[in-house]
Amino acid sequence: MSKSLGVAVIGAGMAGRAHAAAYRVASTLYSPTLPEIRLVSIGDVNPEFGALAAKRFGYERTDSSWQAIAAADDIDVVSVVIANSLHREVVEGLLAAGKHVLCEKPLSDSIEDAYAMAEAAERAESIARVGFTFRRTPGIAYIRQLIQDGTLGEVLHFSGRYWTDYASSPTAPMSWRFKGGAGTGALADVGSHLAYVAEFLCGDIQEISGGRLSTVITERPLPLGAVLGHDHAAVSDTFEPVENDDYAAFSAKFEHGVGGFEVSRVAPGHANSLIFEVFCENGAARFDQRRPAEIELFLKTGEGTQNGYRQVILGPEHPYIGGGLAMDAPSVGFGQNDAFAYQARSFLEEVAGVPEAEALPRCATFAEGIHNMELLGAVAESAAAGGATVTIDSSTTISAKAGS
Ligand SMILES: NC(=O)c1ccc[n+]([C@@H]2O[C@H](COP(=O)([O-])OP(=O)(O)OC[C@H]3O[C@@H](n4cnc5c(N)ncnc54)[C@H](O)[C@@H]3O)[C@@H](O)[C@H]2O)c1
Repeated sequence: MSKSLGVAVIGAGMAGRAHAAAYRVASTLYSPTLPEIRLVSIGDVNPEFGALAAKRFGYERTDSSWQAIAAADDIDVVSVVIANSLHREVVEGLLAAGKHVLCEKPLSDSIEDAYAMAEAAERAESIARVGFTFRRTPGIAYIRQLIQDGTLGEVLHFSGRYWTDYASSPTAPMSWRFKGGAGTGALADVGSHLAYVAEFLCGDIQEISGGRLSTVITERPLPLGAVLGHDHAAVSDTFEPVENDDYAAFSAKFEHGVGGFEVSRVAPGHANSLIFEVFCENGAARFDQRRPAEIELFLKTGEGTQNGYRQVILGPEHPYIGGGLAMDAPSVGFGQNDAFAYQARSFLEEVAGVPEAEALPRCATFAEGIHNMELLGAVAESAAAGGATVTIDSSTTISAKAGS
């Protein structure tokens, strides 16, 4: 196992800060089997954002170019957490320099770039993975267990939505999230998570139909300064067109069962609502990201007159919590930031050479990242053809590769 690992995060924005914090915490989850983790650099083209994040999360320095991080001898592991359209250049450069790369989802904003990235990952001797954070959510991982061990049994029907509101105000400033072709908006931003979760639970999607994309706010004002994440910064009176979808819907056919999906960035009242219900032969389960420390479970057992969902509060007997969280007692809660920490831990374990049997389930491969993009591409294709059925022709599957 390596003696120590030097870590850098490229992008000090909304998710970059979550990665930066996660590498700090990763060694403190479970018993100390990781090598020493050195928090080396935060890279951001905006030196102010980089310096603030480095200070806040205790990184040794900040770099204003990804090339400096690629060239640094004291850095082994790099998270790429910048706009989707920038992933390819940076990931390829880092892999060529021998760095281990954890790239944010979606892999890219163009399938051609994603294929090139996967080829670069295949050529590389270092490890390249994609961050689908929600697979680390204990409630979602537990529902998957209940499906796979037969408690819930075979899936009949999945109903999922990922509603957000960050673009619901017409004065929310223009940013990279509103640029790119059909399907690179809400569908790529939050639909990528929802599609991943659906396949994680229900198996591979084979067909998409009923695709619909809609842009309801067609232009946005340019910000007066730099914009981070979903910040509502001060804006100018110059407007630019929105190029991609505010809303997307589609239905899907799994090998067993079907599903309905709806995603939005214009859903006031829902800042971050990944919500799904999965109906199975022996019952059903419900998850709501607004209450991530619980699930609802209905099992068709006992008196029919007492049937109904019950609340299951997550605790040490559920995935990720027992032996993992510092206080691993019942009802201590679990949030999205914790999921980033488990993801960082998993990636560091793989880089450090911790055997799979003793490690957390590995992060998704670039091939799985491509599969996810092909799926979203099929939604855009279906939408362009008035909702026509599109068959998914992908050799890489998420459900087969993802550990529990
Ligand atoms: N897993 C999740 O839950 C999750 C959540 C949010 C975002 N994301 C993903 O993370 C990525 C970043 O999203 P975000 O919301 O953090 O973006 P953001 O706009 O908040 O931050 C991006 C940062 O990158 C910096 N930057 C721009 N160009 C750069 C370059 N060439 N080199 C270095 N830094 C550069 C910007 O100055 C900014 O600080 C996207 O791929 C997004 O899909 C994932």
